[in-house]
Amino acid sequence: MSRLEQLQRGLDSAGQAHVLRFWSELSEEQQEVFLQDLVLLDLQRLKEHCEAASRAAAGPAPTLDRVMEPVPPEITGSVTRSDPESLTRWEDEGLLQISKNRVAVLLLAGGQGTRLGVPYPKGMYDVGLPSRKTLYQIQAERIHKIQELAERRHGSKCTVPWYIMTSEFTLTPTQTFFKQNNYFGLEPSDIIMFEQRMIPAVTFDGKVILEGKGKIAMAPDGNGGLYQALVDHKVLEDMKQREVEYLHVYCVDNILVKMADPVFIGFCVSRGADCGAKVVEKAHPAEPVGVVCRVRGVPQVVEYSEIPPETAQLRGPEGELVYRAGNICNHFFSRTFLQDVAEKFKDQLKQHVARKKVPFVDSCGNQVKPTKPNGIKMEKFVFDVFPFSRNFVVFEVIRKDEFSPLKNTDGAASDTPTSVRTSLMDQHRRWVCSAGASLLDEDGNIVGPETSESSDQHPVKCEISPLVSYFGEGLEQLLKGKKLQTPFVLDEKTTKVLQGQSSGDL
Ligand code: UD1
Repeated sequence: MSRLEQLQRGLDSAGQAHVLRFWSELSEEQQEVFLQDLVLLDLQRLKEHCEAASRAAAGPAPTLDRVMEPVPPEITGSVTRSDPESLTRWEDEGLLQISKNRVAVLLLAGGQGTRLGVPYPKGMYDVGLPSRKTLYQIQAERIHKIQELAERRHGSKCTVPWYIMTSEFTLTPTQTFFKQNNYFGLEPSDIIMFEQRMIPAVTFDGKVILEGKGKIAMAPDGNGGLYQALVDHKVLEDMKQREVEYLHVYCVDNILVKMADPVFIGFCVSRGADCGAKVVEKAHPAEPVGVVCRVRGVPQVVEYSEIPPETAQLRGPEGELVYRAGNICNHFFSRTFLQDVAEKFKDQLKQHVARKKVPFVDSCGNQVKPTKPNGIKMEKFVFDVFPFSRNFVVFEVIRKDEFSPLKNTDGAASDTPTSVRTSLMDQHRRWVCSAGASLLDEDGNIVGPETSESSDQHPVKCEISPLVSYFGEGLEQLLKGKKLQTPFVLDEKTTKVLQGQSSGDL
């Protein structure tokens, strides 16, 4: 039997014979490429996948409201409700772990960034800061700085390896971008990129969608594809070899992300946690963030697309949202927990159904761009391992300091290039002011008080390189008493100038 006949039979028994519908119309070269794609498919898995997708599309969404409860206070730490001594203790612990090379960061960067709509990975996006830095560059510089801070505190040179999960869409451009930028000065061998799997998009009645006459519509398997990808690419072995014990996992689009945040890591480590989530208070009931809660007594995130609106709106006695612990996609995992997940639990992760508009070829071979959802992409979510944790903790942080994600194009109500740029510059302005300096506008007037936020339209242009300060530290000795002209950019060069001056303006 030829390879083609074998495939025909296999697809037929998986209920997917239509995949070869246009075979005779393809050139020999196209046939070869398509065949190579198709032989990689595990047909038994494909059958199960398509059946599961159509079952999920037909069934009602699970109702969670009766089995949900907020996370209890005893597993929650908070930046605002903790005394300064505890915060310092956690930070010390985190820096100690970093200095011993026990901490790595892991970036989830396999998403297609559909809402932002750029044809390249989101991390390469330039949000229009005075420095024109991209999200990747900002993250890389924060790694440099945290290594330096840990080293300075504990006197031992250290490395925070950067694991980056990509997908078929993002791997090559990300690799090229890092290379072109000389890995932002980091050691290339400490940046480990690996690819998550792709799975076919399926119609509501369980048929694989053809994106072209010789191409199946494929999509990354969700950020919960991480656990399979860790196994596929032996990433846990790499971590073990480097003696990494703790991992800070984060998503690409939060411009304020504290890479390898020592306070968060220190909190989780001192609680003996195997798994943790950073949260911020939800801004309003419909904000598109998942809520960290308990479902049937175990920790879980209920995603914004799955929480019933009435439940999202529930309020407590003080008027506060009952489900207010907003997931900011910053997670802590111990390596041993991930090992357990990889060995025992990863195949139990639930599949979430996303109804999407998937471009396809119709039965006459015409290319169609649907205007309403016509297909299902099944996705796993990174937080769906929380129920397997033995000691789960939550850490609440301050939104304006730690969460401003880039999701949408300018013109949308929130989470746009403009809003993230403004939140970063506002944060840096607060740092400058609390270091005892003043910022001047073009007329020489002192600009707004430290506490007031600037508007998205007219932000005060103030940017501090992460190479100079990770989270506002070390600025007082540089800036105290100074009057600084805006736009003000504090980078390594301006730092040298300032260090050469005893007082005065810049
Ligand atoms: C995500 C969270 C949501 C949280 C919000 C905060 C998940 C499933 N949802 O939602 O609870 O409140 O961030 O901003 O985590 N990614 C992959 N592979 C994929 C799909 C996505 O690596 O197959 C990556 C993306 O590149 C991104 C991250 O996962 O870095 C989050 O994906 P995104 O689609 O932006 O998640 P949201 O829906 O915003």
